[in-house]
Amino acid sequence: MQILVLGSGAGGGVPQWNCHCQNCRAARCSSNNKVIERTQSSLAVSADGKSWALINASPDLRQQINQTPQLWPDFSQTGLTRGTNIKGIVLTDSQIDHSLGLMIMREGLPMDVYCTDIVYQDLSVSLPIFPVMQHWHGGYRRQAIDIDTLADDGNPHSFTVDNINGIRFYPIPLYSNAPPYSPYRDKPVPGNNIGLKIVDEVSGKAVFYAPGIVESNGDVEAALAEVDCAILDATLWRDDEMIQGGFSQKTGKDMGHISVDGDTGVVSLLERFDLEHKILIHINNTNPILDETSAEYQFLQARDIVVAKDGMVIELQ
Ligand code: MLT
Ligand code: MN
Ligand code: ZN
Repeated sequence: MQILVLGSGAGGGVPQWNCHCQNCRAARCSSNNKVIERTQSSLAVSADGKSWALINASPDLRQQINQTPQLWPDFSQTGLTRGTNIKGIVLTDSQIDHSLGLMIMREGLPMDVYCTDIVYQDLSVSLPIFPVMQHWHGGYRRQAIDIDTLADDGNPHSFTVDNINGIRFYPIPLYSNAPPYSPYRDKPVPGNNIGLKIVDEVSGKAVFYAPGIVESNGDVEAALAEVDCAILDATLWRDDEMIQGGFSQKTGKDMGHISVDGDTGVVSLLERFDLEHKILIHINNTNPILDETSAEYQFLQARDIVVAKDGMVIELQ
């Protein structure tokens, strides 16, 4: 299985258009490599390197596809004038940074989108991307991720994405928050946010991806105990970082995000598991781990924890 990091930043990306924090200023300065640019969070996965599932559709999707040749069809073979290697889309939530890209793909519809009922509801009513997009070739074909009925093993049903062979997805409901425009804001229910255990059915190799999680739970820990690679939420270094820096009145918890540091942080969680790859993603522009000269970055390096970058390829075989 191959995993492409299309975007590793949180909402706003790095640099964020109106932000002049230390990181955003450094990212605008091309003469140093302290902080590199990052687009908003998204992955693509494939078992054969030809057919890809897009995991979350970021507002930066156009740029992400244009800089990722793996997602372009081989026209010498197909003779088609238009097309894509993206065969379906899986959403973990209904946040702007994970769904706005659906509007960017209007020229290539119809396309399948896999999401929970709650996410479908948010993206039909509060942020009505599904109904709007129906005006382009019928729009998206929504496929349900069922987290309400359980399979024989007591977990939610796994699913596959049509035309993606050899990859199975296991949805895991997470503690997080719903987006500000959702009726579930501050009263989240299962289905607002899921993590995905993604398994290569031939090699058995697996990754757990959770870009929006505020706190671990038994199912998350069961997944982390089984997989080879974790790609986890690292929005803020500390919960009140945006308030302390004068950037926003929101804590990480308010937005449904875990911190990197601290006893209940993502590093403490990762340190309990023996994994081939420990990767942090969905990193806010205020987070000091973006600065490769920072003590926080060195702290992660010493623990073999990798700060995701756009364009990173993870091969599990
Ligand atoms: C964002 O991306 O702006 C977040 O949704 C903010 C939030 O959850 O408060
Ligand atoms: Mn986000
Ligand atoms: Zn900034």
